[in-house]
Order: sequence, then C-alpha cells, then structure tokens
Amino acid sequence: MSLLIQEIPTTDAPMKLLLLADPSEEKIRSYLPESKCFVAISSEIVMGACVVKPRGSGVHELMSIAVHPDYQQSGNGTALLKWVIDFFQRAGASQLEVGTGTFGYQLSFYQRQGFRVTSIDRDFFLENYDEPIFENGIQLMDMLRLTIRYSKDIV
Ligand SMILES: CC(C)(COP(=O)(O)OP(=O)(O)OC[C@H]1O[C@@H](n2cnc3c(N)ncnc32)[C@H](O)[C@@H]1OP(=O)(O)O)[C@@H](O)C(=O)NCCC(=O)NCCS
Repeated sequence: MSLLIQEIPTTDAPMKLLLLADPSEEKIRSYLPESKCFVAISSEIVMGACVVKPRGSGVHELMSIAVHPDYQQSGNGTALLKWVIDFFQRAGASQLEVGTGTFGYQLSFYQRQGFRVTSIDRDFFLENYDEPIFENGIQLMDMLRLTIRYSKDIV
C-alpha cells in the first residue's frame, strides 16, 4: 500500500480526522487559517492529517496529527510524522514543538522520532477545554511540551 503525503490548502483540511486529535472544532478552526495542513493519502483515501502552526523565529508547533482508526497501528502515523519533521528541517526551521498528555502511547510516538521534553504546562487540559478529556480511563490534566531542535546551536 503506497502512501502519498502532501500539503493541501487549510480550507480543505479533513475536520473529522483532526477531531480525533483535538476534540474542540472551535480550537481547530482558530489555528487552521495560519497553519499548514498535510495529508496522507492511500488508494485515493485521505487517511491521515497533520496541522502545523508557525510560532515565529523559525519555531513551528505541531497542533494535531491523526490517522483514521481503520488505518492506525500500521506505521502510517509514523510515516506522516517523519515526513513532517523532515519537511520543516528542509524548510530551515529552528525547532518543531508539540504539546501532548503526560502519559499514553502518543508520548512514545513522538519521543521515538526524537522529540524531547522541554517543559510542563500544568493544568493545561483543565483550563483550555470545557469538557474533561480521558485517556486510558485517566483524566488528562497537564501538558508536556516536546521539542525537536534542528539547529545544534540552540540551547
Ligand atoms: C497518534 C496516531 C496519529 C498514530 O498513528 P498510527 O498510524 O497508529 O501510528 P503508527 O502505526 O506509526 O504507530 C506508532 C506507535 O503507536 C502505537 N499506537 C498507535 N495507536 C495506538 C493505540 N490506539 N493504542 C496503543 N498504541 C497505539 C503503535 O502500536 C506504535 O507503537 P509500536 O511501534 O510500539 O507498535 C494515531 O494513533 C491517532 O490518530 N490517534 C488519535 C489522535 C491522537 O491522539 N493524535 C495525537 C495527539 S495530537
């Protein structure tokens, strides 16, 4: 099964997929216009999506990444993440950040590709979402900020 990954206009972003990663459509719509949207397509089916927002000074933040449940755990998410990491490196970015929960498979998913923990945003999920978010039956409260630093000069 060959995978095509490409950037698409944010107006065409697959909202249903993005909602798997961020439960707030309002939040997604707030960062989408200034972001870049990438999709993974196989047999003409859009099965993965990733949104990355610029934060200035060469820093970019991966806001969401999702693969349709029928296509998960087959390496598609990793392929999309690797492609996006490489895209921003080639574009001359200084670093790529992502915020994620303090536990769960997503943490390994990012760290496996070289993301390192740089800070903790305490109570992030309590303060930024109206509804409680649960993962493996545990309520998400704090957010870990993970970073890939492309330039070795940055401390
Ligand atoms: C995170 C996500 C994009 C990974 O996509 P994927 O196609 O499943 O990723 P891969 O197949 O490359 O798997 C990466 C690792 O995560 C693990 N994994 C993926 N989904 C999992 C799940 N539901 N439960 C447990 N482990 C899972 C895989 O087993 C694999 O680990 P391994 O190499 O040790 O086997 C996908 O699971 C997803 O869309 N999740 C819901 C949205 C989300 O949480 N996004 C991240 C927050 S922004």
